[in-house]
Amino acid sequence: MTTTINPLRYPGAKRQLVPYIGNLIKCNNLHGCTFIEPYAGSAVVGLELLKNNIIDRLILVERDVLIYSFWKCVFSATDELCNRIETLPVDIETWLKMKPLREVTVPHDDKIMELGVAGLFFNRTNFSGILKANPIGGITQNSNYKIDCRFNKPVLIDLIKNLSLIKEKVEVYWDDAITFLNGYKANFLKKRHFVYFDPPYFSKGHKLYRHYYTINDHKKLANFVRNNKHFDWLISYDDEPYICGLYSGMNAKYSPFYLDYTVSKGKRSSGKELLISNLPLPPVKFSKTNIL
Ligand SMILES: C[S@@+](CC[C@H](N)C(=O)[O-])C[C@H]1O[C@@H](n2cnc3c(N)ncnc32)[C@H](O)[C@@H]1O
Repeated sequence: MTTTINPLRYPGAKRQLVPYIGNLIKCNNLHGCTFIEPYAGSAVVGLELLKNNIIDRLILVERDVLIYSFWKCVFSATDELCNRIETLPVDIETWLKMKPLREVTVPHDDKIMELGVAGLFFNRTNFSGILKANPIGGITQNSNYKIDCRFNKPVLIDLIKNLSLIKEKVEVYWDDAITFLNGYKANFLKKRHFVYFDPPYFSKGHKLYRHYYTINDHKKLANFVRNNKHFDWLISYDDEPYICGLYSGMNAKYSPFYLDYTVSKGKRSSGKELLISNLPLPPVKFSKTNIL
């Protein structure tokens, strides 16, 4: 399977899981299914599986207005998005001018482009790709690393144009994951679906994302998944005893991965990732050397 880079440098992105999930899908005769990522983020898993023809259709759901708007623009207003990126000054003045867009709570149609550009901008100019963080180099830019050091316009434009080639097979929704899936129920009967849940981390979610889960939200998700009879699914989580408890007693298996994200140092480091599924999980062959 070939993998490319993604325009978003997303905290907790699951690039290392792409071959594993591809294999899980093939082993279970789900080749050509509709794949749903209800916690899309960088959507790296679904996009790679789609580009490699392992799945037929991709549905992305994201609660964050800025990330949702970015993906919406990638797939429905590619040229305008690329033009905006081309002419965008990547400096602290732009960062300050865009800052109020972080307060927008609803992605109204007339604002989508502005929000989409801001989503990419904050993702690529902020510390560790965290939308609510400060810019690389700080507001004063007194550092060797400047705000534009991860904003390579030609590369980003190229990646976006490349992704737009699969736009007919991608749908993007701004919604809460569970609300969306409840509303989608009737469609599960028409075709085979696979849902890949990658909810905000239990322990560090509040540091990484603008939308994160309380204990109650994690419980609600576990109940939703337990009661589901419509689709096959996989969940990835940080390996926390509380989460193991929520899914214990189910017909599911657990596998450790070394994919954790250290917020304090802004670096990936070795930690454990938990995989839970209704399907039998193939052995995990990843090692620490797989860390990007
Ligand atoms: C662990 S990240 C997903 C990372 C993604 N799998 C990737 O590879 O980049 C969790 C994502 O869920 C989003 N999110 C948080 N609460 C949500 C909700 N209630 N419904 C949908 N998405 C939500 C966050 O904004 C974040 O983008």
